[in-house]
Amino acid sequence: MAVVPQMQHSIESSISNIDVYEGDTETIIKHGENISVCAKFHIEIYGCQMNVYDAQRIAELLQFCGFEKAKCHEDADILIFYTCNIREKAAARLFSNINIFKNQKTKVVAVGGCVVQAEKENMFRHKAINIVFGPQVYHKLPEYIMDVINGKRDRIMDVGMPQMEKFKAIPVKQNVSYSEFVTIQEGCNNFCTYCIVPYTRGPECSRPAIDILHETKHLVENGAQEITLLGQNVNSYHGEAAYLGIGGKKTWDITRLLYEVAKILGIRRLRYVTSHPKDFNKELMTAHREIDVLVPFVHIPLQSGSNKILRLMNRGHTVEEYLDKLAMFRDIAPNIQFSSDFIVGFPQETDEDLQATIDAARMADYSFSYAFKYSPRKKTPASRMQDQIPEEEKEVRLAKLYAVLQESQLKYNQSIVGTIQETLFEKEGRRENQYVGKNVYLQSIVVEADESPIGKFMNVKITKATQNSVFGEIIQ
Ligand code: SAH
Ligand code: SF4
Ligand code: F3S
Repeated sequence: MAVVPQMQHSIESSISNIDVYEGDTETIIKHGENISVCAKFHIEIYGCQMNVYDAQRIAELLQFCGFEKAKCHEDADILIFYTCNIREKAAARLFSNINIFKNQKTKVVAVGGCVVQAEKENMFRHKAINIVFGPQVYHKLPEYIMDVINGKRDRIMDVGMPQMEKFKAIPVKQNVSYSEFVTIQEGCNNFCTYCIVPYTRGPECSRPAIDILHETKHLVENGAQEITLLGQNVNSYHGEAAYLGIGGKKTWDITRLLYEVAKILGIRRLRYVTSHPKDFNKELMTAHREIDVLVPFVHIPLQSGSNKILRLMNRGHTVEEYLDKLAMFRDIAPNIQFSSDFIVGFPQETDEDLQATIDAARMADYSFSYAFKYSPRKKTPASRMQDQIPEEEKEVRLAKLYAVLQESQLKYNQSIVGTIQETLFEKEGRRENQYVGKNVYLQSIVVEADESPIGKFMNVKITKATQNSVFGEIIQ
């Protein structure tokens, strides 16, 4: 049974002897330093859902150690920037944001996440930065902050890659929301030629299934109804089995994990993101038909519809193989929908290659998609390829692809007018009494209501559709 340590509300605390437990595994953090804290922190987050998950864990750990969450950045003694590096200019943007956020009250500036892992040598160019910490060592942040506050060290850099250590060293979440993320896998071995992630997050590594089951159970027992399992390459999950069962396999794949997570009483929606096309098999597709709470929706990025570009990208599949997988998926689980990511302006991409992407997007018939201009990343092979595409041309190509993607998004939104959609409400809308939620397909659904439905599932009759949203009335 999971042992949850009491949250420390006192601003006087010591992390030298705190026992932190997760699942059945006991890990004792011994920083050997007595902490006497009276400081407020603020975290700025940039990037993907995994960064949101990481930042939430950092906040929980700091509160556990006695730090307080500031009401806003102006009120913070400690400014933490948790960053992304997937596209260009991340470091420049970060430096200018530090200047905007820093004020006389700021005692410590800490910068973590993917930018620092990729740009470590440049980080201390900004004079205000005290702490630079990579995405695999954020559990050590309280110790580093105290070293700066106590004047022991002024500048600290830790970009070590002890994958998985952080999961053991952080207490389970106390502030549980109705929708929660759980990281199950981190890093990537695919080395797509444009992508920085294998360099920032390190090699692929899966968490033991027992830890994932314990964390999810804790979240669901404390109010989470929607769980999203996260990984940079989530469907290549291969974690240590929680128990052997029939067949005695020592590791579980994503399919086995989904069946087991779905058994946790109280889960209403189960998602996973982001998947690689090559790691979809028949068993995983069948799970979408058989597991009630598993949403009939997956994000499967195609990136390009040209086989030449897919080869240059090192994606490991052709466009035909990809479309065959979608067709097989639709055969097995008829209500399934897909979304995708695309990159335009990859080196050597021609107008014909772009047309092939547009054709493939039409054939795949996505409910929505994201499209990005190719951004050369230092250290990646694509940044050194010949025939880089000029920025203005990338703009033109992005607009062309976008027009087609928007067309299919509108078509999909219109197709649900008149239907009833179970919607989990997340936030207020722009107008008074307006609320916005998501259905299983991640479509934004807007309603008007006298009482806030935030955090609740409601049945909504869809009455109208536009490009980005659909509108409806709560019927329950
Ligand atoms: N692991 C996921 C993607 C993670 S990054 C996968 O393989 O599908 C999220 C998206 O950012 C990618 O799908 C890709 O479309 C985009 N992306 C990654 N590197 C990029 C780059 N250098 N320039 C532009 N877009 C990029
Ligand atoms: Fe990046 Fe995804 Fe390719 Fe991995 S599979 S290198 S995370 S785009
Ligand atoms: Fe960005 Fe790192 Fe996520 S580069 S997209 S924050 S894995």
